Amino acid sequence: MYKYPLPAPSEITSPEAFRQRRALVAALGLGAAGAWPLPASATLRQKLSGVQSTSYGRGETLTSYDDITTYNNFYEFGTGKEDPSQNAGSLRTRPWTLVVDGAVRRPRQIGVEDLLRQYPLQERIYRLRCVEAWSMVIPWVGFPLRQLIDWAQPTGSARFVQFFSQDDPEQMPGLRRHVLDWPYTEGLRLDEARHPLALLAVGLYGEVLPNQDGAPIRLVVPWKYGFKSIKSIVRIRFTETQPVSSWTRANPDEYGFFSNVNPAVDHPRWSQATERRIGAGLFSARRKTLMFNGYGEEVASLYQGMDLKRDF
Ligand code: MTE
Repeated sequence: MYKYPLPAPSEITSPEAFRQRRALVAALGLGAAGAWPLPASATLRQKLSGVQSTSYGRGETLTSYDDITTYNNFYEFGTGKEDPSQNAGSLRTRPWTLVVDGAVRRPRQIGVEDLLRQYPLQERIYRLRCVEAWSMVIPWVGFPLRQLIDWAQPTGSARFVQFFSQDDPEQMPGLRRHVLDWPYTEGLRLDEARHPLALLAVGLYGEVLPNQDGAPIRLVVPWKYGFKSIKSIVRIRFTETQPVSSWTRANPDEYGFFSNVNPAVDHPRWSQATERRIGAGLFSARRKTLMFNGYGEEVASLYQGMDLKRDF
């Protein structure tokens, strides 16, 4: 049974990834294929227009763009923290079709560009708390997942939502290693998914989402551990029964369905009582982990009457 990341040392760029990157530079017409001065993501930075600002997270100290885009978990591109920023240039994010199906009245397939035309984009600053006991503060750009759910019109019997990531080994070299049961999949209860805080993100820092952060569209569920925030989503399926996520399948004793941030429930192999803020400096004090990652006022009512130690 696979255990959660015992962080692997990041590997030097494989010859294959290097070739793919050169092909990308050539495709983008960015000059001599031999000269690759920047990480793959840096060449793709593109501003998003018409983003409304909101009060979410105003006043928090943001994690730097550099940290958000070079310290990642995206196992489809390797298990090292720097692997995604080095390898995710091979992911083709346009065109991109999102399938919405299962227990819905209006199953659909929609291109991401059309989605962006359909919903106004907002900026929301959210804390992201990883199960590995580190955290970041990220200015996401996106729209509430709830809007897409209402558009699809779940049937009366739909109770859960399951999400699937892209799983093309040609574009995602990490899929060739069986570190998880691919495709990466996650799930929420329908009422959690319809909570106004749950966001479908398409950007950060006012720009198109870099590949390593889950382009072109990813989930952000700020009161849950980061692994619930699934990246590069290709399918959203409504179900009557509780779906099994990739991490729960890998190790049900360590990764529960809910995975709400909870300082009182330790991971079996480490404490969740405190966390390290990425970018705060080596000597900065660890922070106390907050119940529901500090979003309790908004989300606690979803779990009324539940034993959150049992339903972790
Ligand atoms: N989504 C996919 N498809 N594959 C992954 O490996 N890692 C998860 C989550 N979404 C992951 C994923 C984990 S463990 C975390 S902490 C967050 O993405 C990290 O998001 P970030 O790299 O944008 O900070």
